[in-house]
Amino acid sequence: MHTVVETDVLIVGSGPAGASAALALSTYGVRNMVVTRYASLADTPRAHITNQRTMEVLRDLGVEREVIARATPQHLMGNTTFCTSLAGEELGRVRSWGNDPLVQAAHELASPTRMCDMPQHLMEPVLVNAAIARGTDFRFSTLYKSFVQDDSGVTVTVEDRLRGDEYTIRARYLIGADGGRSQVAEDAGLPMGGRMGVAGSVNIVFDADLSKYTAHRPSTLYWVLAPGATVGGIGAGLVRCVRPWNEWLIVWGYDVTAGAPDLTEEYALSVVRQLVGDDEIPVTIKSSSAWTVNEMYAETYSAGRVFCVGDAVHRHPPSNGLGSNTSVQDSYNLAWKLKLVLDGQASPRLLDTYTAERAPVGRQVVTRANQSIAETAPIFEALDGLSPQTPEQLWANIAARKDATEAAAKQRAALREAIAFKVYEFNAHGVDLNQRYTSTAIVPDGTPEPASARDPELHHQPTSRPGAKVPHAWITSGTRTLSTLDTVGNGRFTLLTGIGGEAWLRAAEGRPLDIATVVVGPGQEYEDPYGDWAALSEISDAGALLVRPDGYVAFRHADAAEDAERLLTDALRRILGHG
Ligand code: FDA
Repeated sequence: MHTVVETDVLIVGSGPAGASAALALSTYGVRNMVVTRYASLADTPRAHITNQRTMEVLRDLGVEREVIARATPQHLMGNTTFCTSLAGEELGRVRSWGNDPLVQAAHELASPTRMCDMPQHLMEPVLVNAAIARGTDFRFSTLYKSFVQDDSGVTVTVEDRLRGDEYTIRARYLIGADGGRSQVAEDAGLPMGGRMGVAGSVNIVFDADLSKYTAHRPSTLYWVLAPGATVGGIGAGLVRCVRPWNEWLIVWGYDVTAGAPDLTEEYALSVVRQLVGDDEIPVTIKSSSAWTVNEMYAETYSAGRVFCVGDAVHRHPPSNGLGSNTSVQDSYNLAWKLKLVLDGQASPRLLDTYTAERAPVGRQVVTRANQSIAETAPIFEALDGLSPQTPEQLWANIAARKDATEAAAKQRAALREAIAFKVYEFNAHGVDLNQRYTSTAIVPDGTPEPASARDPELHHQPTSRPGAKVPHAWITSGTRTLSTLDTVGNGRFTLLTGIGGEAWLRAAEGRPLDIATVVVGPGQEYEDPYGDWAALSEISDAGALLVRPDGYVAFRHADAAEDAERLLTDALRRILGHG
């Protein structure tokens, strides 16, 4: 029997991108359905670094606490270690993921949230459970096959893998969240730049109690410089903590031109033994899989009523931990736009801003992640370990750094410098938080982007300039302390003003579009006892910020305005695509 099922938004894929799209849409009250090919969610740890921006998104979507409860906390993430094996010699460390005291302060100032390590097989159930609880129609073992679209919707053919038959789903919009081999992106003809298969890597998931080598230098990542570590892979051998200190994932490279190795248990065990360096420790291999390092991004993220999110449109190595973060943030950008268009409150033109805003981010992320692999080479160079050499030569070069010679002193300095430079992979706070949007859903206020006094990849620079996310400041409401970020979101636009901003409040009220209003100042609903908001808002008390449901400033007016009504109407017309 051929059935036709209907929904408003059909999502293909239940990874971080698809699961968060479903969660956001259900939270906003949009009817949606997820189809996913397997009978279960991710069964391996995969992506894990969860940055502050993603945690802000999860906070708005109401699952931040659950993620914190299951994740490895930030303070156990941060001693990225370079060594010859876990049991072998240590070459140096980088304080990572906000654990350098100065960076930690920057993290605290930037956001009400904290980074954490949340492996994908733990993250997906949190997102999916919450999405289903809020209304998502979820279908496991359902394979996307093809789509056709017309003026009013998309008809998608899927295969029920349990029954073995096909049926069609009619949706107003289709989201392709089907990962790095996206069939939806291919069927939509999304133009891709870059290249696939740059290098070969193997993931080996295993159980072993490695606390004796890790608990005293707690970290998410232990990098191993050993013979063979520069072949393929992601810069060096990697022992990654999945759960402290018993569950692990090793990433080890292979020569992509020679093809992936035969992933027998014996092979996996030999890699684990080499990187751990202690044959006495009992090891249980759980799984092995081969994958390739990619450097690819879509130029356009949509075609008509079809939108792609996550790895479907940006494919890159795990360096900098940007994979699932960028995927979640894509979906968060798209979901509120779909809601407003489906509700008839915005023109479908609003949906064009999805590519305009997210494609530049995707491209930057792909470039950064691949550059981080290249930036590991100087560590090997400092040990003269890049040129072909026997294992004995590599060990001799590593040992040579201990000599009391000028050459050895130079080698030590070069090694320290090369390891310290890895902050661009392990502490790139600016990469995580400085994403700026330029599109018709942002109304420029004529001011230039504030010049960066510091390296914009490493340092977050808050601004309320339209196109930036609203700055975080701790404010109060009665006895409650909350972030300015807590006053926005929830699927609504928010207008923030202060004492003297009555004209803005009047302008925001009584519109068909639901706009929340927030007044910060002495004697108001919200107060600014530390003066943080006054320092960061970049508007006077009587000025206004209009913040989108995704926390981005869409419109800013520095001062009071007699014609606030007209200014806000014009801004909303542009933002909602009615202009
Ligand atoms: P993701 O690939 O997670 O999800 C795609 C979804 O689509 C899946 O649910 C899949 O079943 C479904 N699907 C695909 N085709 C379909 C079809 N035709 N019909 C129905 N459903 C379909 N990152 C990192 O930072 N560190 C790491 O160590 C790793 N390791 C790693 C290992 C492995 C094996 C993989 C596959 C990936 C990683 N990654 C990683 C990358 C990371 O997992 C990735 O960046 C994010 O999962 C991207 O999330 P998406 O939701 O976009 O895709």
